[in-house]
Amino acid sequence: MRKPIIAGNWKMNKTPAEAVALVKGLIPLVADAKCDVVVCPPSVCLPAVAEAIRGTNVKLGAQNVHFAASGAYTGELSAEMLKAVGCEYVIVGHSERRQYFGETDKTVNLRATAAVKAGLTAIICVGELKDERVDGYTNAIVTYQVQMALKGLTAEELDHVVVAYEPVWAIGTGLTATDEQANETIGVVRRAIAAVYGDDAAQKVRIQYGGSMKGANVKGLMAQPEIDGGLIGGASLKAADFAEVVNF
Ligand code: 13P
Repeated sequence: MRKPIIAGNWKMNKTPAEAVALVKGLIPLVADAKCDVVVCPPSVCLPAVAEAIRGTNVKLGAQNVHFAASGAYTGELSAEMLKAVGCEYVIVGHSERRQYFGETDKTVNLRATAAVKAGLTAIICVGELKDERVDGYTNAIVTYQVQMALKGLTAEELDHVVVAYEPVWAIGTGLTATDEQANETIGVVRRAIAAVYGDDAAQKVRIQYGGSMKGANVKGLMAQPEIDGGLIGGASLKAADFAEVVNF
């Protein structure tokens, strides 16, 4: 029904030469993947990686996008720029952007909208902090985050949206949500989408899990009915590790 999608978020790792070496190692290992495969290297690596993956089943994504078409936005990149260097995907609203760079639900909505309108697929990240889970606010938080992120988008535009549920306490910590926790909260995300767009539209949206996902836990997570893939940090930085996730 929904084709799984596994994406690697390389975060601030790899020079262009290192990035090319990584994808060249990866390409033969994932050539028979049954899921969509995406790599999201740092911006300076995008042109070199685009060249290296040409003609393969590995697709390119960026880690952020600005909402304006052009202008005085030092340090930012537009959707057209990302498309011009071969990107089909872009991560929006990663918790590290929210935590360290002042992203809000409003800017996440603006960035996601710009990406989708330009024809990129936005991988929109949502997820609760540890305290929010402990205090029982997980469902409220992820519902609000996803509905705010999608505000103004049409049901048709959801074809260009992937949601990544990444509990912040599971990112880079080695702590993974249990299969059941991840499935349950992704179900909440899907119901939040259904509340706005209807059940048919929500059933088509692919929702990934992210947070210490790796070869050792991918099978259990992917066996859950609501989980349509993964957004992988640490385990995407070595070809063999990422291939193990992709070939779950
Ligand atoms: P880790 O897989 O390193 O926990 O990172 C997850 C993540 O933040 C992907 O966007």
